[in-house]
Amino acid sequence: MKKVKVLFAAIVLTTAFQSCKENDNDLKEVEVPSEPVEETATTEMGNPADVKADGGSFQIVALPYAYDALAPNIDAKTMEVHYSKHYVGYTNKLNKAIKGTDLENKSIEEILKGLDMNNTAVRNNGGGYYNHSLFWEVMGPNGGGEPSGKLAEAINNDLGSFENFKTQFTDAASKQFGSGWAWLVVDKDGKLKVTNTPNQDNPLMPGAEVQGTPILGLDVWEHAYYLNYQNKRPEYINAFYNVINWENVAKKYDAATAQ
Ligand SMILES: [Fe+2]
Repeated sequence: MKKVKVLFAAIVLTTAFQSCKENDNDLKEVEVPSEPVEETATTEMGNPADVKADGGSFQIVALPYAYDALAPNIDAKTMEVHYSKHYVGYTNKLNKAIKGTDLENKSIEEILKGLDMNNTAVRNNGGGYYNHSLFWEVMGPNGGGEPSGKLAEAINNDLGSFENFKTQFTDAASKQFGSGWAWLVVDKDGKLKVTNTPNQDNPLMPGAEVQGTPILGLDVWEHAYYLNYQNKRPEYINAFYNVINWENVAKKYDAATAQ
């Protein structure tokens, strides 16, 4: 940026000097741009479709929108780093942790439901893989608003109202100390519950306080919001409501209650 400013100033001065020399008594108004031309961005945003995990049992799910599709609620750089670095990292480490074990042939849900909570490599990376795979799917451009149909009825019946759901979910996300997740879960009785978990734990795991099938999750690790929101987690939580893809959440609700 400095170079651009210096170059711009030099051009303006040179032009003015030449103009004075040529026509000392006939000054003409020269159109000058009000702002220096912005430097072209030197870092290009990658394409999520080009991102691949190393080989192994689990592959990353495709991000169903561009990195900048959720902006300004979630900025493109955060999405890029989150998807192509953090998520890929969990996936690679999960594959490494289960290589050569009988977990290789199980689904991620089976692995997490039957998890040995002392197996920290699978707990952290299997959780990280599952949680983020769900996270990408429950957001989208043109998201926000409120759910409809059976999910809306269930929220009213089980949580009181949509506003009550928001209050509980915001509370769960705000009060999760340190890194973790807030969840909307279908419990074993088919009822909706709001809960939170630390680190990369989730409600599928045997140690979870509220057990069930997650249908909506919010990542409150700092890597999910710090670039744009710094320490203002409440603002990030509020913005999340603008990008929730309720249609996909409803599909997950239908699948969880059909089991
Ligand atoms: Fe994350």
